[in-house]
Amino acid sequence: MADTTKHLLIVEDEKALREVVAERLADHGYDVTEAGNGEEALERLAEFAFDVVITDLRLPGLDGSKVLEAALARYPDIIGIVVTGYGTVKDAVEAIKRGATDFVTKPFQFDELLHALDSALEQRRLRSENAYLRSQLERRYSFTGIVGRSRPMRDLFQLLETVSGTNSTILVTGETGTGKELVARAIHHNSPRRGGQFVAINCSAIPETLLEAELFGHVRGAFTGAVGTRVGRFELAHKGTLMLDEVGTMGGPLQMKLLRALQEREIERVGDSRPVKVDVRVIAATNSDLAKMVAEGRFREDLYYRLNVIPVRLPPLRERAEDIPLLVQHFLERFCREATPPRPPMTVSQEAMRRLMACPWPGNVRQLENTLERAVALGAGRTQIELADLPPDVQEAGPASPSASFALPDCGIDLQKYIADVERELIQQSLDRAGGNKVRAAQLLNLKRTTLVEKLKRLNRD
Ligand SMILES: Nc1ncnc2c1ncn2[C@@H]1O[C@H](COP(=O)(O)OP(=O)(O)OP(=O)(O)O)[C@@H](O)[C@H]1O
Ligand SMILES: [Mg+2]
Repeated sequence: MADTTKHLLIVEDEKALREVVAERLADHGYDVTEAGNGEEALERLAEFAFDVVITDLRLPGLDGSKVLEAALARYPDIIGIVVTGYGTVKDAVEAIKRGATDFVTKPFQFDELLHALDSALEQRRLRSENAYLRSQLERRYSFTGIVGRSRPMRDLFQLLETVSGTNSTILVTGETGTGKELVARAIHHNSPRRGGQFVAINCSAIPETLLEAELFGHVRGAFTGAVGTRVGRFELAHKGTLMLDEVGTMGGPLQMKLLRALQEREIERVGDSRPVKVDVRVIAATNSDLAKMVAEGRFREDLYYRLNVIPVRLPPLRERAEDIPLLVQHFLERFCREATPPRPPMTVSQEAMRRLMACPWPGNVRQLENTLERAVALGAGRTQIELADLPPDVQEAGPASPSASFALPDCGIDLQKYIADVERELIQQSLDRAGGNKVRAAQLLNLKRTTLVEKLKRLNRD
């Protein structure tokens, strides 16, 4: 189970040199990935937690020090070894200052590199942590505590910055644990309404009969048990923000009342027909597909459009695995700080990190958070979290095996056509996931780029 192979990324533009070194390292048991330039290196680093990155400092385009910087920012535990040309030792020293573990100068003997690698790996085993780097990271890549810097998250931050300043109603959608409440709070705290209250109500947690009074308040004697007059959440959120969580679970009559409150900007307390003016910004959230519910007649279309003025979709964690190292650092720092007694931040072995990045995380960020809390507790007295500290379901979860979802129907199937359909579908998904980048799509399918291109041509012909 334990993967002791060391995974290594070599970044070198001289193809012949790169290939020779890669081959010899592979002979020494390393799993080697090659990148011919800095940009390509960053793509590889976004996808995989390598143990070591060996980079030439002089590269066309993005240079080696940038590659090193990006690698260390993402994985504080990665080993960086830089390769410099003759007479540029100054650059190497600079790289060491920035966190490279070692350097070799060109032309070098292979054994020199091997030696540098061995001692760096040993050093890493003993290395204590760099908390400073971590806290720096957090400051740079978060929007009020929302961690992430993958493409979808950067787009999200930009959207949040824009919408926070407005008064528009927002509909936040996303699977469980993707951060809907976190985002709603962030919008409130970055809006001109931050002086008012942020009031959240989970519509699915309160019986429908009580929800109306909870939202709009009631007067004395409005219903059995209404002993006093009570202010509802709408009024509580006056001049502030009201989060209507799980809005999809609201029943028909209440949907109507909510629609009226949003349109008229006034509410009626239960048992009282005098309207009360309220100035509230509403953020609705749901993990169900409201558009589908509208189509099925289970949610009012007019209310849907009132709520969905600005849609904010939170991507599931599996669609942004490259954010996992940052989230891991964020949570480790927090759990170690909050431990009694507080302890220095722990790190995660690259092996465990690979597992974390490959896990499908059905419970999204919340599940990752819980996993790390548990791991910190189990790792008491140690500085590093190992594979064994992860819960069994995370240790074992791999890319979902398709076999379970197949069953041969009694009438049989056309195997060739079936497989062609599956192939077409997976290729399409890989291209979508890779934003149309064929190199990346091919990697997702474990194919050579040329093979993928061939297949695409064939599919287009068929
Ligand atoms: N991008 C993120 N950065 C840091 N922490 C996050 C992020 N996303 C979610 N979390 C954390 O994950 C946990 C779950 O988030 P939250 O409660 O906002 O999810 P949710 O979408 O409302 O889930 P549910 O649908 O189950 O109510 C919280 O502890 C939150 O702080
Ligand atoms: Mg929630």
